[in-house]
Amino acid sequence: MYENPRLILDSSNPPEPGQMLWRSPSNLAIIKYWGKHGVQLPRNPSLSFTLAASCTDTALEYAFKETADNQIDLEFYFQGEKNEAFRARTLTFLESLTPQFPFLRQLQLTVRTGNSFPHSAGIASSASGMSALALGLCSLEDALFGTLQDAEAFDRKASYIARLGSGSACRSIFPKAAVWGATPAVPGASDEYAVPAEDLLHPVFHDFHNDILIVSTAEKPVSSRAGHALMEGNPYAESRYAQARSRLTALLSALRSGDLQDFGKIAEDEALTLHALMMSSNPSFLLLHPNTLALIEKIRAYRAETKHPVFFSLDAGPNIHLLYPGDIIAEVRGWIEDELRQHCADGWFIQDWVGDGPEEM
Ligand code: DP6
Repeated sequence: MYENPRLILDSSNPPEPGQMLWRSPSNLAIIKYWGKHGVQLPRNPSLSFTLAASCTDTALEYAFKETADNQIDLEFYFQGEKNEAFRARTLTFLESLTPQFPFLRQLQLTVRTGNSFPHSAGIASSASGMSALALGLCSLEDALFGTLQDAEAFDRKASYIARLGSGSACRSIFPKAAVWGATPAVPGASDEYAVPAEDLLHPVFHDFHNDILIVSTAEKPVSSRAGHALMEGNPYAESRYAQARSRLTALLSALRSGDLQDFGKIAEDEALTLHALMMSSNPSFLLLHPNTLALIEKIRAYRAETKHPVFFSLDAGPNIHLLYPGDIIAEVRGWIEDELRQHCADGWFIQDWVGDGPEEM
């Protein structure tokens, strides 16, 4: 999809040097993507909230090459410093994209990228990072060829390209929420790119909080790539994929009606299922930390006591995503200070919320 051999620059009329600059957020899956096949295709549909505070800024600088060769020329800076490991990974990714962007071989490229959250936070940056890069590439195509003028076509291609970099990144392109993966429950949904889901949300979810309680800043013992691969031999895989499909249908109905109890039950079940799948893989991975469990118990006790709709989710790591509506923010933040921060690494938590999606800067 999107292969286009005509996207080649005319060397008799080279473009002026320039740069594309995007800020793109991370996202938190409520229905989890865990298991893939082929070229970055998901085994089940997923749905995420787009975050606001946790994001990556990426500048993509370009200049027409004086002497033509067949290489991609890339320099890479992360948080202001040259980073060879990231350069090598990005180069491999860009080389895989030459069918979609053949003009990349004609340019000298410099990527300067940085995250709003410290690299050491143990927060995955692949969703924000890959979506910011994909948006930059699509803007560059449009600047050079004028081929992505239509906003919907632009977002779709950016989501498609982001997916090739990291599956979950394809959902970060859209404001508030996105669905990735073909499902009869969402017309137009596809395995190839995510589609916007803002219109499927009751207004209560437009003002939803997603504070991230940093339980551990240690590097994850298993990459998500390796984690997805472990699903291939997991004895629960097929029933898991069926479960994700039926939970998505139930979630969509809770999101439409604004039923927070149903929403929260599904969000927590999905988080624990993700970890149960990792624990039951071979080899098995246990990414929950004693403080993750202490926080989960406190969240459930607080909910029972106060009746406040406060729920948790998890990524493939020990950190807790605390989900709650905007109208109880004062009480919840007070409770985080008094009761929850003590379980966080250096008392650290990140205030985040459902956001409006990427921004061109
Ligand atoms: C647990 O998108 O990081 O966060 O496609 O291999 O880059 P790759 O995996 P990635 O997996 C994310 C897994 C998850 C759930 C989710 O975001 O849906």
